[in-house]
Amino acid sequence: MARQTRIIELPQVLAGVRLLVTAGPTHEYIDDVRFIGNPSTGRMGLELARIAQKMGATVTCVCGPTHITPPPAVRLIPVVSAEDMLAAVDERFADCDVFVATAAVSDYRPEARQQGKLKKKQDTMELKLVRNPDVLQQMGQRRKPNQKIVGFSLEVDNALDYARGKLEKKNCDVMVVTTPAHFGESREAVRIINAQGVIAEVPPSSKTELAERICLMLADLLAGKLPALISCFADKAKPAGNGAASSAGGDK
Ligand code: CTP
Repeated sequence: MARQTRIIELPQVLAGVRLLVTAGPTHEYIDDVRFIGNPSTGRMGLELARIAQKMGATVTCVCGPTHITPPPAVRLIPVVSAEDMLAAVDERFADCDVFVATAAVSDYRPEARQQGKLKKKQDTMELKLVRNPDVLQQMGQRRKPNQKIVGFSLEVDNALDYARGKLEKKNCDVMVVTTPAHFGESREAVRIINAQGVIAEVPPSSKTELAERICLMLADLLAGKLPALISCFADKAKPAGNGAASSAGGDK
């Protein structure tokens, strides 16, 4: 897909910021020629990396297998599996100011990778899978007070409730919530939440526009001034008089 040519100057709001991003899918090999994967292209994470760099950040992107050409001024660390991704992030996390996890990490991997090519035998075969490490959750556990963490959450139903649960479990500051409503389209709508509620509702936008929006939000997050709540979670609702409380609730 041709990238939109935009000639506007981006504000240098991330100057001096060290950003670590995960992007793309992971591939979990069954044998030497087959793997479990998913259709993530890595486009969101790589676009975020590109825009953040243009806004002044020093960006490292740990990226699973992708066909997309990485942005030239971004340090790209290619990885294959979830375990590789964890190792690469683990090594660099202490040196980042902001960690953004956009990767579609495979939650499971085959218990053992077979050497060579598995030959077919019976009509059915069982494959034992074991849980992969959760990269975002592990970084959430070891974050320092001055580090900021942003996760992405793709959900079909009850998107806000599930995303909020992940935000808490993985100790993130902010979660970007996506739904498959615009699957297959190049434009995507997202909501951005913090622990209190929804702070942004972004209408269907291109990946470039989304990346710009998210990078501006990162600058706000680092400055400690996220936008006011659009709606707060029901149990965080304040007594009448607070506009946010009246529109509080779970997913819309
Ligand atoms: N994530 C991660 N490592 C994993 C799984 C997820 O770093 N092993 C990160 C993703 O990059 C994303 C966030 O966690 O930022 C949420 O991922 P998502 O796939 O939406 O949810 P899961 O936590 O995997 O939960 P579930 O699959 O049960 O919905």
